[in-house]
Amino acid sequence: MTISTYAERIVILTGAGLSAESGLGTFRDKDGLWTRYDLNEVATPEGFARNPVLVHEFYNARRANCLDARPNAAHDALARLQHSRPSHVTLITQNVDDLLERAGAPAVIHMHGQLTRALCAACGYRWNAPRAMDHAAPCPACNAPATRPDIVWFGEMPYHMERIDTALQAADLFVAIGTSGNVYPAAGFVQEAAAHGAQTLELNLEPSATVSLFDAARFGRASRIVADWVAEILGAPPPR
Ligand code: OAD
Repeated sequence: MTISTYAERIVILTGAGLSAESGLGTFRDKDGLWTRYDLNEVATPEGFARNPVLVHEFYNARRANCLDARPNAAHDALARLQHSRPSHVTLITQNVDDLLERAGAPAVIHMHGQLTRALCAACGYRWNAPRAMDHAAPCPACNAPATRPDIVWFGEMPYHMERIDTALQAADLFVAIGTSGNVYPAAGFVQEAAAHGAQTLELNLEPSATVSLFDAARFGRASRIVADWVAEILGAPPPR
C-alpha cells in the first residue's frame, strides 16, 4: 500500500532505535540492555523495593550516558517536522532520554517517564534529577527518604494515556519508529490508530513483532530513513 505524503494529523511513536545511533543502547537487540540486566531487578517496583541501590546505579549510569549523548539526524528531522506543524504533529516516545527535546522538538510526550526527573515514592512530588540520584536523599516537598527515578516500570501505568488515546483516534497517519513492538500498550497503538481510520507506517532497522499490522514499512537506520521520510512530508503539497 502506498502511504500518502499528505496527512493532516500525524502521530509518531518512537522507541530505542531512534537513539541507537546516538550511542544509547536498545533493550532487545544483540547486546541490548535486557540481555545484560535482569529487568525484574532494575525495572519493576518489586526490584526497587528489594534493592534500591542497584536500581539507582542502573539509572544513574543511563543518565550519565544520556548526558554525554547528542541527538542524531533522526531526532533533528522529527524536531523539524513538529516545529513545522506544532498542533498537527504529536510526538510520543517510549524513550527516557531527552534527545528529541535537545534537537528542538517543542512538545514530546514521555509515556515511560524521563531520566532527567526524580519522583518521590512517598508523596508523588517530581523535581529535576541530579546527575547521580540517591534513594536516601530527602524529597524537597515531604522530606521522605524515598527518591526514585521518574521512570515507568513494568507493572506500572504509562503516563499521559488519555492524551495519547485522543491523538491516536484523530490521527490520519500513525508512524512507529525504532520500536520492537514487544511492550504494551505502545505496541497496540497501531491497531488503535488504524481502527479510527489512520494509515500506518513502520520505520525500523528490522521488522518489528507487529510489522504485519502496518499498511507499509521501510527498513534501515533511523538517521537515514526518518530523515528521508520527513523530507518527503515537508516537501508534500496539500491535496487539491
Ligand atoms: P527494543 O530494544 O525492544 O527495540 C529496539 C528497536 O529498534 C528494534 O526493533 C530494532 O530493530 C530497532 N533499531 C535498532 N537500531 C536501530 C537504528 N539505528 N535505526 C532504527 N531502528 C533501530 O526497544 P523499544 O521497542 O523501544 O520500557 O522498547 C520498548 C520498551 O521496552 C522501552 O521503553 C523500555 C523497554 O523495557 C521500560 O523500561 C518501561
